[in-house]
Amino acid sequence: MYSKQIPTGFPKNFLWGGATAANQLEGGWNVDGKGLTTAEVVKKAETREDFSMNQVTTESIAQAAADPTDNAYPKRRGVDFYHHYQEDIAMLAEMGFKAFRLSIAWARIFPNGDDATPNEAGLAFYDKVFAECHKYGIEPVVTISHYEMPLALTQKQNGWASRQTITAFLRYTETLFKRYKGVVKYWMTFNEINAITGGFTGTGAVDADLSLNEKAQLRFQALHHQFVASAKAVAQCHAIDPNAKIGCMLARMQTYPQTPNPEDVRAAQLSDQLNLFYTDVQARGEYPEYMNRYFQENHITLQMDPNDEKVLRENPVDYISFSYYMSTVTNADQDVEHFHDGFVFGEKNPYLQTSAWGWQIDPVGLRISLNDMWDRYRIPLFVVENGLGAEDKVTSDGKIHDDYRIDYLRAHIAQMREAIEDGVQLMGYTTWGPIDLISASTSEMSKRYGFIYVDQDDAGNGSLRRLRKDSFYWYKHVIATNGAELDAPVATAKD
Ligand code: BG6
Repeated sequence: MYSKQIPTGFPKNFLWGGATAANQLEGGWNVDGKGLTTAEVVKKAETREDFSMNQVTTESIAQAAADPTDNAYPKRRGVDFYHHYQEDIAMLAEMGFKAFRLSIAWARIFPNGDDATPNEAGLAFYDKVFAECHKYGIEPVVTISHYEMPLALTQKQNGWASRQTITAFLRYTETLFKRYKGVVKYWMTFNEINAITGGFTGTGAVDADLSLNEKAQLRFQALHHQFVASAKAVAQCHAIDPNAKIGCMLARMQTYPQTPNPEDVRAAQLSDQLNLFYTDVQARGEYPEYMNRYFQENHITLQMDPNDEKVLRENPVDYISFSYYMSTVTNADQDVEHFHDGFVFGEKNPYLQTSAWGWQIDPVGLRISLNDMWDRYRIPLFVVENGLGAEDKVTSDGKIHDDYRIDYLRAHIAQMREAIEDGVQLMGYTTWGPIDLISASTSEMSKRYGFIYVDQDDAGNGSLRRLRKDSFYWYKHVIATNGAELDAPVATAKD
């Protein structure tokens, strides 16, 4: 008789926590020797639908670089974690965090990207942050490049469009692995590497004047450089700190066919392949055949060095991490060309609700994605972003009753538990923005994800005071019970 034990609930050392990015969190944009970053020349979007993060031109960059203030550039100010990190990490510890995902700002360490020596003050800042995490038993999970790079590399060589950026990046990663050996156990190379198809935020390259096809050519070439840089960083990390684990990071978007028409089902399959192609390269070590066909049909030619394929093959990642916010729907009439021009929401799914920003909320999609990815890769998975962007209201007694956020997270955690019981190996779960921070896509402050409210508005006014929302107490209980009690009555914000 065949009988095997089915896993029950979350594993013992499950990494519960939250995730952030330097450019949305830190502030301190012009102190202690830091250089300007690509994120700090992006203005706040005019509307919610309009992703300002990729809308830059050579002129807008020159104008931004000459502006000594943070007025128009919210990612320069973040929520001033740079000066509040002790208070902030103490609050994460109060929730019982096991892991805190954060990114390092490359321009704090190498202000121009390719300086001969690193900036000691920048390294020292992260020494202090990591020490603060360890003080509470919180494991730092570090993204090496999260939607930013030193602006000087854009100005000098158009960012990742240049192969030389690989060399600069590897000097940076070597510095990090040596400095934080034994301190950081979990690394990931590029945040949402597939965001590169949207342009500037991923590539650090200005391509506003190019045709769609020229953009695709530039972006996939830049991506190839990142693939090689990432694989070489995996090799470096393993050589320098054999106890560390290094992963890749994908913005996962589950695609459904709009109808059972096989043509729509095939369109959804292609859309899913185009989403998973990045992890195919980084986890399996080679470009998949369907992608070679896609390149050929779309007249995209990649320049590779003779050794590149070997480097990719020999250095797959240790784990796959991904963000999951929503799912999408497609049909045979959709033009796949959209794939190389940025982010697409697809068709409306009549079975799902959307957030105020139009993101389709789909907890079951997370279980489907986890199963699909586990079946495909058979290496540990890590959900490193998930959450609901919402406008929170502070009531007259200074409380924030964010039951909508609790509902969202509860439903997703329940589906992760199902996936674990389906057999998926899941390392952890870090919700996006445990402390309110600047939105990546629109640079708004009013799109909040946190358990901790930060008193700051879109224009940067406010005391920066931190307040515990209702979700703070709820998540604390979830962690304390290792995800066993998701429905416990919600304590109300006390401060
Ligand atoms: C992910 C990014 O795309 O989603 C984060 O990795 C980002 O940087 C998050 O903040 C949520 O997106 P947004 O646009 O709502 O901030």
